[in-house]
Amino acid sequence: MATTTDRRRSSVRRPSIAADKLGAMTFSSIPKAGGEFRICFIGGGNINFGSDQGPWDHSFRLEHKLGPRLKVVGIVEPNRATAEAVLTRKRGSFVVSAYQDTEIYSSFDEYVEKLNPEKRPHAFIIGSPPAFRGSTTPGKDVELAILKAFPNDTPALFIEKPISTDTVENALTVGRTLVDSKTVVSVGYFLRYLRVVQKMRSIIEDNDLHVMATVARYVCAYPSIRKQAWWMKSRDCGPIVEQGTHFCDLSRYFGGDVEMDSVQAHALEWYEEAGELSKCPVDEENTVEEDDRVPRVTAATWKYKTGAVGSFTHALVLQGDKYSTELEIYADGYQLRLVDPYNAPSLEVRSPLGDEVEHHTFAQDDPYFNQMSAFIDASDNDGNAGTTAVADDDEFEILSDFDDAAKSYALSWAIRVASEKSLKTVRRAPKKAAK
Ligand SMILES: NC(=O)c1ccc[n+]([C@@H]2O[C@H](COP(=O)([O-])OP(=O)(O)OC[C@H]3O[C@@H](n4cnc5c(N)ncnc54)[C@H](O)[C@@H]3O)[C@@H](O)[C@H]2O)c1
Repeated sequence: MATTTDRRRSSVRRPSIAADKLGAMTFSSIPKAGGEFRICFIGGGNINFGSDQGPWDHSFRLEHKLGPRLKVVGIVEPNRATAEAVLTRKRGSFVVSAYQDTEIYSSFDEYVEKLNPEKRPHAFIIGSPPAFRGSTTPGKDVELAILKAFPNDTPALFIEKPISTDTVENALTVGRTLVDSKTVVSVGYFLRYLRVVQKMRSIIEDNDLHVMATVARYVCAYPSIRKQAWWMKSRDCGPIVEQGTHFCDLSRYFGGDVEMDSVQAHALEWYEEAGELSKCPVDEENTVEEDDRVPRVTAATWKYKTGAVGSFTHALVLQGDKYSTELEIYADGYQLRLVDPYNAPSLEVRSPLGDEVEHHTFAQDDPYFNQMSAFIDASDNDGNAGTTAVADDDEFEILSDFDDAAKSYALSWAIRVASEKSLKTVRRAPKKAAK
């Protein structure tokens, strides 16, 4: 039973970074002086080097964070042409000094075989598909392979979400191994680094609020998702595990740990009357086995360990390019509404002070830069990264570690599994023939 004192204690921990410290990339200060900071990229695709599909591009943020200190020693990428195209572009720009000696490796094994101790990286940026990481199975276990290759002074690891496609149990094993190794690890749940999100955390902490409910909605613009793996449950694990996981994580960031047995969900499947999509990127879905196709809408509810209630609706509905996403947090007297975190993040707050809504926005906020800045600050000891540097008060902290990210992964899977189980109680409509 909670005591009166407990009740007055906010249900979120105060972030140890001040919201006003999460500066926008366009205002990033002159990079710190220091020795070379060597990076090896795992994966030469969109998340690491950018695309026309979104604002993500880790290399761009690293170039701004580290300036002339950045030395990219390697790109591990099985598709050599992809990595060569990246290097041609980078070497033809003002960041040439970071990429002039970059080697391309077709696999992590090849990278280890050819490792030059003088080019030992301070950090790995892991943006390969999740099927090749977060696992205990050889070939899918790049984190464990890195620990084995660098047993004593492991380079820092930045790992994209979702952390794996393996079982939650195996992903947790990887997490425990990383924690035991004391390696600096950051997982790419970048929405935590939005200044509006940090503002929400401050309001909860400053007013000693207990979160009573989280209500999340994520509606993506599906025609622009042109990767076949995304449309196959067997490859990317479906829209909740691959994409909705960002909002599973953000819900947990406010609601805390989830009673996993409480998760319930329903899905609208592709073959049901309401499940037809008129602009499905046809080449992708028509070649996918029927049982492997992804649901169109998933709606879930759960209980947090505090007793609070969470809910989440994910949908493949919109056309065009922009996603429509929103997260509401409720506490006694308060409604905190995070609106459009992907395109134009803003926060609407209703409080006991009145019925009017207070609006908050932060100009030119770049959560991808904030996230990478926090990672480098935690990894960088003037060229001696790999030891766990203690961040100064005015530096950012990593807001998503592997252990915590594994809990978001577990929630994402629990929603998928619950939605599939509930289908058995629903009469299945006859399957349509593939177009
Ligand atoms: N946080 C975000 O906003 C965000 C945005 C985009 C992608 N992502 C995540 O980043 C990850 C990668 O997505 P992407 O869009 O960059 O995909 P992508 O297909 O564009 O790039 C992945 C690259 O990895 C390469 N690759 C395949 N197997 C590999 C291996 N074993 N080792 C090294 N490289 C390998 C592929 O050839 C490809 O070039 C996914 O987990 C995705 O969810 C996150």
